[in-house]
Amino acid sequence: MNIEDTLIMIPGPVPVVPRILRAMAKPVINHRGYEFAEMFDECRELLADLFQTKNEILLLSGSGTSGMEAAVGNLINPDETIVTVVNGKFGERFRDIGMRYGNTVPVESEWGYPIDLDAVAAALEDGADAVAMVHNETSVGMLNPADEVGKLARKHDALFIMDGITSIGGTPTPLDEWGVDVAIMGSQKCIAAPPGFAAVSVSKRAFQKMEDVKNPPYYLDLKAHRKSADKGQTPYTPSIPLFFAIQEALYIAHEEGLDARRQRHATGAAAVRAAADAMGIAMFPQPDEKSRYSDTVTAMKVPSGILFDQLKKEMLARGILIAGGQAHLKGNIFRIGSMGNFRSKDLLITIQMLESILHAHGAVSDSDFGAGIRAAGSVLMQ
Ligand SMILES: Cc1ncc(COP(=O)(O)O)c(C=O)c1O
Repeated sequence: MNIEDTLIMIPGPVPVVPRILRAMAKPVINHRGYEFAEMFDECRELLADLFQTKNEILLLSGSGTSGMEAAVGNLINPDETIVTVVNGKFGERFRDIGMRYGNTVPVESEWGYPIDLDAVAAALEDGADAVAMVHNETSVGMLNPADEVGKLARKHDALFIMDGITSIGGTPTPLDEWGVDVAIMGSQKCIAAPPGFAAVSVSKRAFQKMEDVKNPPYYLDLKAHRKSADKGQTPYTPSIPLFFAIQEALYIAHEEGLDARRQRHATGAAAVRAAADAMGIAMFPQPDEKSRYSDTVTAMKVPSGILFDQLKKEMLARGILIAGGQAHLKGNIFRIGSMGNFRSKDLLITIQMLESILHAHGAVSDSDFGAGIRAAGSVLMQ
């Protein structure tokens, strides 16, 4: 395997295009100087458009999880209650973070099944202070109904924290309409920069609540971040090359057009689903009328005739990296990302190889062979 030549089709980190890599090679600048402030302010503005919010954007050194922890840790006192909605691995992460900071009421569904809105409503009715939900549950390839949870949070005067780590920039996120108080995005996902930064949007209501929170995390104190942001800075030294990367990644996203970019993600996922359907491969998640399949990652059941490890190995031998299942889904599902700056040809080659390997193992019948690539092609040509 040639590592420089591997096509990464996992749901993040996604491939970083040369234009972004070149931007990272610029000489380091002073993070307390005017050049940095200019770049910082511009990134925040471009991110606000990407997030689809008028709320303030802050940039945190750390992966997506740092944004999840910042959101919970800055909004919840130990004697307060947070409802965490779980239908996959990252919902569990919110639950686990919640347990470090306050009383946590997890509302759990089986992974890949719709969230239980009645149970969320009941937990909020009992007087919870906040609710945290993963919008795009990457582990199962499903989009959860942020609008519905936002309505419930407003009704019960609770804060709404939304993990948009793999949705913001790749799927519509009208955060202000939904009433999201803190939304989180990861740099290595839909904007296709390297990993290492989380961006968060924070509402006025959330900033007000922070005044009453006694022991927020130190490094991830959002009040400190806001104070520094007013001066065009971060409180502690950020990775300057990563900032260059994020700026360039945001230029690329805006040049493409944010709606066009979201549409490309939706079309990419639709192409993978069409191919899977034509090959007789079942989807893993089971969305209801309020949820839907993800636009940025497609999770499918591993068909009989091949084991996931074998499939992954054979794909990799042909230069393509796909993802498996996490935790108890290991071996049962596989996932293909349609995330970042991917092009139609990346998806087509992935599906072509997948179909050939599955056919060679008898997991795709002779009569279906070729139907997958044709189905994907016709979606991508629309
Ligand atoms: C929905 C979601 N939330 C959180 C995370 C964790 O992000 P990170 O690994 O950047 O900390 C991921 C990573 O895949 C994710 O997909």
